[in-house]
Amino acid sequence: GAPVEVNIGKLEPGQLLRVEWRGKPVWVVRRTEAILQQLQGLDGQLRDPNSEEPQQPPYAQNASRAINEEFFIAVGLCTHLGCSPTYMPDSFQQQVQGIQSGFFCPCHGSKFDMAGRVFAGVPAPLNLEVPPHQYVDERTVVIG
Ligand code: FES
Repeated sequence: GAPVEVNIGKLEPGQLLRVEWRGKPVWVVRRTEAILQQLQGLDGQLRDPNSEEPQQPPYAQNASRAINEEFFIAVGLCTHLGCSPTYMPDSFQQQVQGIQSGFFCPCHGSKFDMAGRVFAGVPAPLNLEVPPHQYVDERTVVIG
């Protein structure tokens, strides 16, 4: 499939933009400073906090799992059986203590933080997939 160019210049803080790449949903989320703060200190609750599983591109192997930490880019499919998790910008606390926002899979209850890192004790085996991508300029990212 062809690469997809995404204009991220108009994304509001906290907003999720959904695009399609190779027939899959890809999310681009603009993270706030508060969201990035939430990613600190979760390691003990996560299955693979440093994305050491081999399916990840090297630039996803850090706490923010991003080239530019302001933007989280991921394939929006649960790594369990492929349902589409729900973005919970401010009601995730009902699912996970101590974190305001994240992604919740309605199919079997998998939970992911705002870097797509899977929490321990849920069915999904892996962190959300970060697709290959590159920034062309400050407001344009190319997926694929
Ligand atoms: Fe998401 Fe099963 S498909 S938890």
